[in-house]
Amino acid sequence: MRHLMSPLDFSVEELDRLMDLANDIEAHPGKYAHACDGKKLATLFYEPSTRTRLSHEAAMLNMGGSIMGFSSADSSSAAKGESVSDTIRMISCYADICAIRHPKEGAPMVACQKSSIPVINAGDGGHQHPTQTLTDLLTIRSLKGRLDHLKIGLCGDLKFGRTVHSLINALVRYPGIEFVLISPEELRLPGYVRKDVLDKQNIPYKEVVRLEEALPVLDLLYMTRVQKERFFNEEDYVRMKDFYILDKKKMTLAPDNMLVLHPLPRVNEISVEVDDDPRAAYFRQVQYGVYIRMALILTLLDIHVD
Ligand code: NCD
Repeated sequence: MRHLMSPLDFSVEELDRLMDLANDIEAHPGKYAHACDGKKLATLFYEPSTRTRLSHEAAMLNMGGSIMGFSSADSSSAAKGESVSDTIRMISCYADICAIRHPKEGAPMVACQKSSIPVINAGDGGHQHPTQTLTDLLTIRSLKGRLDHLKIGLCGDLKFGRTVHSLINALVRYPGIEFVLISPEELRLPGYVRKDVLDKQNIPYKEVVRLEEALPVLDLLYMTRVQKERFFNEEDYVRMKDFYILDKKKMTLAPDNMLVLHPLPRVNEISVEVDDDPRAAYFRQVQYGVYIRMALILTLLDIHVD
């Protein structure tokens, strides 16, 4: 049985197959409409979510399956003190596959050790968010035509942003990747990613504070929200929250074929006036998130459609 804890759980070749499947689903959705008839997905969300929970659910529903779950810790027995290990044992009796989001780093890993159904990590604290990364990879591959030889700007909360940590881990496996890390001093990429991933593998990167300095040279700009819920005090959050605002004027500095991605939700870091720019790809990214999660569910359940 297979789980998805980190994007590295799939080899580059397996990821290619997963993305090929997602592109086939995009081209021929009808072919997959009954692929999961009789199957159940449980979504166990101990932390708020809109896209990640609903896109897993949409993915299962699109393939004829059913869904169940909870969307906050207070509406589950976690409020009574039940452990994740016990909860997953129950869920294994009810569902065929589950997606779990938890504020504690490593909680999905604990769950998969006690689970008899495939577990998908739908975000664990500030650690990893592998299905967002699969979404990002599919978006980049579909819209740019490649995942190698790209200069990628990662902007915003690089300290607490789990989407950034997962994406870096996944992208360093492709040749010719360079990063520009754009953040305020206080929100720099943590050492366990900078040193243990980038430095260790000799990946070229530059750290800058000003977005204007990075924009002219990028193939792709990945914007992120300042992760309010992971700050220890409100004052620091308020000081950081509007540090970057990508607007029309700044977009004039960027190349014509640069893509703007964002895992969403956005707060103020991308002005709504940028939404109509053809380079803004964050809403198309949401759609790719459904296709890749359909492909992921089929793969983890070992269902093949010809
Ligand atoms: C991200 C997350 O939960 O880490 N959201 C998402 O799943 N698309 C990003 C965020 O909350 O900023």
